[in-house]
Amino acid sequence: MHELWSDLMAHRRQTSHVTIANLFSESEERFNSFSASSSGLLLDFSKTSLDQTALGHLIALAKSQDLPSKIDEMFSGAAINATEQRAVLHTALRADAGTPVVLDGQDIMPAVTETLQRMEGFAGALRSGDFKTANNQVFTDVVNIGIGGSDLGPAMAVQALAPYCNGPRCHFVSNIDGAHVSDILRQLDPETTLVVIASKTFTTIETMTNAKTAVAWLEKALGEAAPLHLAAVSSALDKTAQFGIPPERVFGFADWVGGRYSLWGPVGLPLLIAIGRDNFRAFLSGAQSMDQHFRTADLAENLPVLLGLVGIWHNNICGYPTRAVLPYDQRLARLPAYLQQLDMESNGKRTTLEGTQVKQSTGPIVWGEPGTNGQHAFYQLLHQGTHVVPAEFLIAAQGHEEELAHQHDLLIANCLAQSEALMLGRSLESAREIAAQRGFEGEAQERMAAHLSFPGNRPSVTLAYPKLTPFSLGQIIALYEHRVFTEGVIWGINSFDQWGVELGKELAVSLLPLVQGGEDPNKDGSTLGLLDKLKGPGI
Ligand code: F6P
Repeated sequence: MHELWSDLMAHRRQTSHVTIANLFSESEERFNSFSASSSGLLLDFSKTSLDQTALGHLIALAKSQDLPSKIDEMFSGAAINATEQRAVLHTALRADAGTPVVLDGQDIMPAVTETLQRMEGFAGALRSGDFKTANNQVFTDVVNIGIGGSDLGPAMAVQALAPYCNGPRCHFVSNIDGAHVSDILRQLDPETTLVVIASKTFTTIETMTNAKTAVAWLEKALGEAAPLHLAAVSSALDKTAQFGIPPERVFGFADWVGGRYSLWGPVGLPLLIAIGRDNFRAFLSGAQSMDQHFRTADLAENLPVLLGLVGIWHNNICGYPTRAVLPYDQRLARLPAYLQQLDMESNGKRTTLEGTQVKQSTGPIVWGEPGTNGQHAFYQLLHQGTHVVPAEFLIAAQGHEEELAHQHDLLIANCLAQSEALMLGRSLESAREIAAQRGFEGEAQERMAAHLSFPGNRPSVTLAYPKLTPFSLGQIIALYEHRVFTEGVIWGINSFDQWGVELGKELAVSLLPLVQGGEDPNKDGSTLGLLDKLKGPGI
C-alpha cells in the first residue's frame, strides 16, 4: 500500500513537465482512452494529467484497499458504518422490489416497497386534490422543514427537475434564522399549505424550532384542525407521535439510511409530490442503473471509481486541496451545496477505521456555482490565480427550452471554452501579439504580455448527459455518492458517520443561557467579549 503511494508520487515527479496538451499531442486516442460512459452519462477525464501508468497505479491502489469487496459489503448490508454500528443501505431504497436485500436475516425490501407505495398514495392524493385541506380545499403549497440531509437533497432535486414539477409548489425552510421561516410563510396561505417536518432524529434544534413556528402559524388559521396539515418523515416514530403528527402521514425510514444519502426514500417526499410517481420512479431507476454499473463494471471502466481516482490524483498526488463543481445547468444551482454535504460531511475525516491518524489528506474542499455566472465571478482565479483548482463541469446535450436552443448552444460553447482555456492557457508569445495589437511597445508590451498570458495546464473533468431528466439526475447523484465511497475506501476512513458536527451543537446549547442573560466566567475572552457586544448596550 505504502509502495503504491510512493510509485504514484515518483511517477508524478517524473512526468510533471508533461503538460495535458502534450498528452493530447502524443495520442489521438486520448479522449476515447480517458473517458467512460454508463447508460448515456459520459465522464471525460482526458483533460487531466493522468496517463496510463498513473491510472494503472491508481487502480492498483484501489485494489490494494479491496475496493471491489468493500463495494459488495456495502450493497449486501455489512455494518460498514462501524462507529455507528450500522449498515449502509440507501441503495436498497432504489433497488428492484423483487430482489431481496437481507439484513440481519430479514429481507428489507417488502418494508421499503410498502413505504414507497404509501408515499406514492399520499403524494398522488395530494396532487389530484383527493386529499383535501381542513376546509375542504385543494393543497396548493408544501413547506418542507428540515436541514442538512433532510433539506439539501429534495431542495436541490425539486429545482433541478423544475420542468417536471406539476404538483403543489414546494418550499424549503432550513435555517434557525427566523428570517428563513418568516420569509417563506409570509408568501403562503395556511389554509392551503401542507407542512412536512423532515428529520431523521426528530431532535435537530433548527428543525424542531422551525416546526413549532410553522405549527403555531397553522394553528392561528386552523385552530385544532392544524394537524390535518402536517406530515413527517423520520426514523423516530415515537417522537413524531409525541409531536402530534397523525401516523397515517408519517413516513419512516431505518437507521441504515444516512441523512445525506436519504433523498431516495421518505426524505424525497417533496420531490415525489412535485414531480409525481412516474418521474420519481425514473429518478430512482437512474440511481439504480448507476448502482448496477458501480457493482459490475471493471474498475477501469467504472465511472464512480474513475471519478474517485481522479480525485485522489488531484488531492493526494498533485496536492490540490479543493475542487470546483461547475454545472452548466442553471437548474443544478444547488448541486454544489448538496455535494458539499455529501462529500465534506462524508470524507472530512482525520481518523482511519482502525482509529489511527490518516497519513494522507482526505476529503477536499468542495465548492462551486453554475456556469456561466461563475465565469463573471471567480473564474479569474481559476485561470490566472496561484492556486490550481481542478474543475468538474456538468453539461447537457440538450436543454428543455426548445425555443431557446440557440442559448443552449452558447451554454455548451462556454462550457467547452472554459475547459479548453484551463488546459491550453495562452502563451507569452501570443500574449505579446495581443499586447502589440493594443498598441503596447517595448517594455510596456512585455509587462502587458505578462498580464495577458495564462499558464494553462489546469485540469478538469466533464460530465455530459443527454438532458437533465429525472433518470439522469438519479444517475448523477448516485455517481457522486459512490465516488465519495471510493475515495473513503482508499483513505481507509468511515464515510458514513459525522462526529465532527457534534461539538458545535453541544456548545450552542450551553451558550443559549448566556445569550439570554446568564453568566459563565470560564468562557474564553472572545466569546465573552462578543456576547457583551451583541447582548449588551450595543455595538
Ligand atoms: O448536521 C449534522 C446532521 O446530523 C446531518 O448529518 C443531517 O443530515 C442533519 O444533521 C439533519 O439531521 P436530522 O435529519 O436528524 O434532522
